[in-house]
Amino acid sequence: MIIRINETQSTNDFLNNLSKKQNLENKTILITDIQTKGKGQQNNYWESEPYKNLTFSIFYKNLNIEIQKQFYISMAASLGIIDFLNSLKIKAKIKWPNDIYVENKKICGILIENNILKNKIQSSITGIGLNVNQTVFLKTTKNPTSLKLIKNQEFNTDGLLDKLIENIDNKFIFLLKKDFAFLKENYLNNLYLLNKIHTFTIGNKKITAKIIDIEENGKLIIQDNNNVTSKYFFKEIIIT
Ligand code: BTN
Repeated sequence: MIIRINETQSTNDFLNNLSKKQNLENKTILITDIQTKGKGQQNNYWESEPYKNLTFSIFYKNLNIEIQKQFYISMAASLGIIDFLNSLKIKAKIKWPNDIYVENKKICGILIENNILKNKIQSSITGIGLNVNQTVFLKTTKNPTSLKLIKNQEFNTDGLLDKLIENIDNKFIFLLKKDFAFLKENYLNNLYLLNKIHTFTIGNKKITAKIIDIEENGKLIIQDNNNVTSKYFFKEIIIT
């Protein structure tokens, strides 16, 4: 079921509140043209010019995934978006943990919020912001791009939605089948900077290292030039 609303602060919040008030069917989607207080990761603001982009959230229930495996939800969502962009002949990569990049610019953000019961994720709200026809962004928005900036053409946002949802659903099937190995392998295959020497910021230190793997709890594993490996949670390390 797709619920359309003209305007809301955040589709994630709206759908979450709705799921507490009524029994939503699995894969209920809530989409808006005007999101006034879009939430990004780490309390950031998600910028989206009214009517230009896709801002929506999907409610998945009966997931029954252990908390320590929560990162597989991110992997499934990211991989679905990568497939969708590939179908438009756009080469995209996942910047850990779940930013979708085209070259060195961000085209899509994902915010996943889980409901946990008895140590398991029961339901989950996957919020997606895909930049479609927006070409001018706030100065505070880091490295943005959009389908229009890449392809030089206007897109019909509604026309893109069905395909995008289908691509995401196809990856959530692997979650339900608990085929975690498939998700991880695919995630690594599509990971930006995998095995490439790069600069990372950890606290006030800069180090040169390469990403070599990801743990299922989402930790990033890097190896420096002395072959020493270390692991970081999101927020502990910045890929500069
Ligand atoms: C990020 O990259 O920081 C995550 C951005 C997520 C934005 C989407 S837009 C639809 C949904 N509703 C929200 O409030 N946020 C997500």
